[in-house]
Order: sequence, then structure tokens, then C-alpha cells
Amino acid sequence: MRNHVIATIFCLGAFAGLAAAQEANVAPTINENFKSASLDAENWATRFTGESREVYNARMDVVKAMGLKPGDRIADIGAGTGLYTRLFAQAVGPTGDVYANDIAPKFLAYIAQNAARDGLKNVETVQGGDRTTNLPDASVDVIFNSDVYHHFEYPMTMNADLRRALKPGGRMYVLEFEKLAGLSSANTMTHVRAPKETVIAEITKAGFTLVEQVKVPGLRENYLLNFRR
Ligand SMILES: C[S@@+](CC[C@H](N)C(=O)[O-])C[C@H]1O[C@@H](n2cnc3c(N)ncnc32)[C@H](O)[C@@H]1O
Repeated sequence: MRNHVIATIFCLGAFAGLAAAQEANVAPTINENFKSASLDAENWATRFTGESREVYNARMDVVKAMGLKPGDRIADIGAGTGLYTRLFAQAVGPTGDVYANDIAPKFLAYIAQNAARDGLKNVETVQGGDRTTNLPDASVDVIFNSDVYHHFEYPMTMNADLRRALKPGGRMYVLEFEKLAGLSSANTMTHVRAPKETVIAEITKAGFTLVEQVKVPGLRENYLLNFRR
């Protein structure tokens, strides 16, 4: 009987692992630009810090709303050219750590170069993949992603991986485009895969609890969600 129970548990675990490994790619072309060998980080940095970009204009209020403390260890997932990475580095101070994580090696090299230039010793880059952050288990207090959730090609696999990397009780912030007819641009309506309700449903299904939608001055086309592991 005991052997039967152990075998059943083993099979269920193997099945769950297989299911995660076999999640269909929900957005096969969305990261084409970032996977291109000719990616120009400087050019993307200019685009990511454009005045027409809401998540850029509201960046100080977003960081303030997150209430980071000196000594916090935070992962900036899909860090891009490091718009938020450098702000987090200041917020968590020399006793904290910021892991800038991305699938694009050139973005990570760009972030590392700028961190060295600016003396931000608490910034470390971590090469991620489509299905994993490659962060160690339970290694960070806070996870953040800006304009990234709809870029996950395997969202449920990534959500499980993010949960694995977050310490129990840790927080995850998702800064993402609204997908709302009448509010969102035509480009956002086609580019962004899922509306907020779907994003919340997917993330809570992965074992996170929604704490709140954080009110941030200046966010209208985007929302900031706070989840807890
Ligand atoms: C639109 S950019 C946003 C960059 C940055 N967060 C910002 O707001 O300026 C999306 C980023 O997500 C990254 N990305 C896509 N899928 C990813 C994954 N599975 N893990 C980590 N990064 C990913 C892309 O390479 C790209 O740098």
C-alpha cells in the first residue's frame, strides 16, 4: 500500500513536470527583436527612456510605491537596458542586491557596463531563458517586472519559476499594460496578449496571492500589481 502511494505521488510529480515542460508557446514571435544577433542596446535604451513611455515617466513613483528597504535582494526580470535596475540599486543600497535578469545577453552586458561605470557594486546580471530565470531557489525578497509579462512565451512555466526563486512571503510586482478597449492604443490591443483579469488569474493559479493593485500617480495605460508568495 505504502509503495503504491509513493508510486502515485512520483507519477503525479513527473506528470506536473512534463506538463510544465510542454506548455505551448503563447507568443512565438514577440521577442524576435530581443533575440536578434544585431540587437543594439544603446538604441533600445533610447526607446525605453522615451518621454512618451508611461513606465519611464512614472518610474520614481513606481519605485516609491514598492517600499524597498536597504538590504533587500530584488530581481528585475526582463530588465532590458536597466531602466529600473539602477533605481533599485539606489533604493536597496550597498547592503542590498539587484539581479538584472534577461534573455538578451547584449542587454545584460549593457547593464553590467553601466553599473561598473556608475560604481553600482550591488548590481549583478543573471542570464535567463524563455522558461527559467536561472535564479537560485528562494533567493530574492522581491521580484519585479516592467513591460515583460506579455513577453513571456511560456507564462505558466515562468510563473512557476518565479515562485521558486522568490523567498516564502516575498513580494512580486507586475507592471504591465492595460488591455482595455477604449483606453488602450490599437497597437497595445494587438501586441499585449492578455487583459489584467487574465494576468491575475494566471499568476494566482501559479500559487501567488494578489495583495493589491498599487495606486501609482501617473499610471493610466499601465497597472502595478503586488502579489505575495
Ligand atoms: C519591452 S522590454 C522591457 C524592458 C524593461 N523591463 C523596461 O521596462 O524598460 C521586455 C524585456 O523582456 C525580456 N524578456 C522576454 N522574455 C523574457 C523571459 N522569459 N525572461 C526574462 N526576460 C525576458 C526581453 O528580452 C526584453 O528585454
